[in-house]
Amino acid sequence: MGRNYKIGVIKGDGIGPEIVDEAIKVLDALSASEGFNISYHEMLMGGSAIDATGVPLPDETIQGVKKCDAVLFGAIGGPKWDNLERHLRPESGLLALRKEMGTFANLRPAIVYDELVNASTLKPNVVKGVDIMVVRELTGGIYFGQPRELEDNRAYNTMVYTKDEVERIAYVAFEIAMKRDKRVCSVDKANVLEVSQFWRETVIEVAKEYPEVELTHMYVDNAAMQLIRNPKQFDVILTGNIFGDILSDAASMLSGSIGLLPSASTGKGVGLYEPIHGSAPDIAGQGIANPLATISSASMMLRYALDEGEAADKIDNAIKKSLAQGYRTADLGAYDAKEICSCSEIGDIIAKYVSK
Ligand code: IPM
Ligand code: MG
Repeated sequence: MGRNYKIGVIKGDGIGPEIVDEAIKVLDALSASEGFNISYHEMLMGGSAIDATGVPLPDETIQGVKKCDAVLFGAIGGPKWDNLERHLRPESGLLALRKEMGTFANLRPAIVYDELVNASTLKPNVVKGVDIMVVRELTGGIYFGQPRELEDNRAYNTMVYTKDEVERIAYVAFEIAMKRDKRVCSVDKANVLEVSQFWRETVIEVAKEYPEVELTHMYVDNAAMQLIRNPKQFDVILTGNIFGDILSDAASMLSGSIGLLPSASTGKGVGLYEPIHGSAPDIAGQGIANPLATISSASMMLRYALDEGEAADKIDNAIKKSLAQGYRTADLGAYDAKEICSCSEIGDIIAKYVSK
C-alpha cells in the first residue's frame, strides 16, 4: 500500500487561488519524487462561497473538511463583501471553520532567512537569526466571547477564557518549547484585564509540569515594543487570540515580508494550514503575489499532519535555495534580487528544486 493522502483545498478569495495553486504544484512535484499520492478536494469558504451559495461557510465544507487528512487554505475576504452583515462576511466563515474543526492552536513561526536579512525594515544585526514560534490561541477569547452586540449607541465584545482553553494552549506551547530553546514568554494584559490575570495564573500552574522550561510574562504593549527592539530575546510566545493576531503580523515584518510566513492550526482533529497574510485584493490576479508563505504552510502540513518530515525538509531547503539564488517576488524585490519573479515562476523554481 502506498501512502495516500486526502487534502482538502480551500483557495478562497483575492490572491488565494494563485498562491494555493503554487503550493499544489510543489506538492505534486514532491509526491512524484517521494512516492506518495495526494488527492485534492476543493471546497468553498469565504467570499467565493458567498457568491456561489449565499453563505461564507457552506455545510458541504463543514462536512468535507472532516473527511480529509489535512486542509490547505489560501486567504479570504475583499472589498466586495465588506458591507455584508457580520455573520455573512467571509471572515465569519473562517472563524466558524476554525471553531468547527476545533483548531485551537495556531502555530506561527517567524524566522528570518539569512538570505533576507537586508529585506527587513529593521537593521540586519537586529533580525539576523530570529527564530520565534508564536503560539496563538485560536478558537476562544474576544473573537468568540459572548455577549457581543452592535447597538445604535454602543457596541461590545467580551473577552472570555475558560481554564480548559488556557490549559490546553499552554500545554501546546510548553511541548513545543521542550523541542526548542525551552523558553516560553506568555503575553497578556494582566495589569488591566481579569481575563489576562486568569490566563497568567493558569499558565503558571501548567508551567509546574515543565520545570526545564523558563517561563516569563510580558504585557502585550511591551511585547509589541520588544519584538521590534530585540526580537532575538524570544523563543516561544504564548498568547491569546487577538494579541496573537496582532503580534504575529508585527513579527512577520522581521522576516522582510508578510508573504513569507506560514501557519498551522491544529487541535482536536484535522488541521488547517494557511499563510498568515490576507487575500491582498489590491494585487489579486496580477500574478505578483508571493506564494512562499503558502508553500511553507504546505511544508508544515507535510510535517505535522502527514508525518512526511523529509518532504517538508525538501520544501524548506528549496525555499532557502531559491532565496539564496536571488529569486524574489515583488514584495521582496528591492533586496539582493537577481531576478524578480512572478508567483508561478517561484512555484516552478521550488517545484524544480524539490524534484531533485
Ligand atoms: C489571521 C487573520 C484572521 C484573524 C481574519 C481574516 C479573520 O487576520 O488569520 O490572522 O483575525 O484571525
Ligand atoms: Mg491576522
